[in-house]
Amino acid sequence: MSTIQLRTSIPGPNSQALMKRRNAAVVQGAYHATPVFVDKAEGAVIVDVDGNRLIDFAGGIGCLNTGHRAPNVIAAIRRQLDRFLHTSFNVLPYESYVAVCEKLNEIVPGGGPKKTLLVNTGAEATENAVKIARAYTKRPAIVAFEDAFHGRTYMAMAMTSKTHPYKAGFEPFPSEVYRIPYAYCYRCSYSMTYPSCEVFCARHLEDTFKRVVAAEAVAAVIVEPILGEGGFVTPPPEFYPTLGDICRKHGILLIADEVQTGFARTGAMFACERLGLGPDLVVMAKSLTGGLPMAAVTGRADIMDTPGSGQLGGTFAGNPAACEAALAVLEMIEKEDLCARANVLGERFRKRASKWQSEWELVGEVRGLGAMQALELVRSKATRQPADEETRQVSQYCYEHGLVTITAGSYSNVIRLLMPLVITDAQMDEAMDVLEAAIAHVAEKKSMLSAQSV
Ligand SMILES: Cc1ncc(COP(=O)(O)O)c(C=O)c1O
Repeated sequence: MSTIQLRTSIPGPNSQALMKRRNAAVVQGAYHATPVFVDKAEGAVIVDVDGNRLIDFAGGIGCLNTGHRAPNVIAAIRRQLDRFLHTSFNVLPYESYVAVCEKLNEIVPGGGPKKTLLVNTGAEATENAVKIARAYTKRPAIVAFEDAFHGRTYMAMAMTSKTHPYKAGFEPFPSEVYRIPYAYCYRCSYSMTYPSCEVFCARHLEDTFKRVVAAEAVAAVIVEPILGEGGFVTPPPEFYPTLGDICRKHGILLIADEVQTGFARTGAMFACERLGLGPDLVVMAKSLTGGLPMAAVTGRADIMDTPGSGQLGGTFAGNPAACEAALAVLEMIEKEDLCARANVLGERFRKRASKWQSEWELVGEVRGLGAMQALELVRSKATRQPADEETRQVSQYCYEHGLVTITAGSYSNVIRLLMPLVITDAQMDEAMDVLEAAIAHVAEKKSMLSAQSV
């Protein structure tokens, strides 16, 4: 098994010195998964301030489907820097904002005429989707899911599920957010088994309307097509058609939060397309721009146009450099067929990961769609007890050996893959070698400890 050659141990001396300054100057609340400071990055490779080369399986939390510094994206941003950097679309409009909206109206799933709003972050986009849904339906309530993540601002946090570290201590949250279980078959909240459950979790929404919140009070159901922070959980095929039918029956809008799933990650431009999810509004951010902050809400024109002039927007919303980057990203995904590449990468991972699953007790489930793949780690396959500490150790072993990974899951026991889709086969294999060694290291340490305690 090959390993990534490193110049220093990780974190190296320069990273350690910077970490001291960071600890003195930066709030502890701004967590980072890897104690390594970056010098430069290209494609799927990061070079740290000690000259170590690391492979990136995190992509800045799923923002880099087109890779670090994709040449056409950088060129588009450079051209914009030489023209103007900011006017605020609310003061002086510019063509690139319009062009991004035209393009998203064309490619976002859902029939009929569409319109788009640009903002800065995923959280801001989910907040705006709620504003628009409430304005259109004139109803107050939002139904969100267990294990959902929609951002860190107050309404987004109210719709987010995981308590620590996202919500605890920040109460109270905005009202009129109701929560139902997601189609998390590996840990079904109803202790049922798919397919005999006949997606009870989706059908149970009708019961929620009787016992928790009246259907006629619900403006929208907001859902991540595949859970992102919640652990890359992919619902079974019947889930979204069933959910969609119930929403339509009651005049409730369906908001798809494609912030993490969007832009080729799942082997289609949007995960909705692969999962039979027909949304009224789609929320996007992250990989839309290849590394600049910008987010969008796209949806049916009659819904999107409910708020009147001046009711939506923001000072930096739809920044000109970010708009140019987005146009270049969308062109690159199509030209380089990154959707097909996502499927190839996903297959390459699954082939190897399914061997890990049969070899090690620690690997409870391998799941995902396209290149949105994950491993759920458990202490025992029988009990499915979440292996949170072991997951942390796997991730630490990875960065110490040159692979940047991030974890996920309500129980912090999922390793997720968000590598740039431009990663080469050789880099992908190198990265999987490290991940395999990390799992072997932690699994063997665990079995040695349990042998000693017998
Ligand atoms: C599905 C989903 N929605 C919303 C957000 C929030 O996006 P941002 O961090 O840009 O506010 C995230 C971020 O991880 C996300 O994964």
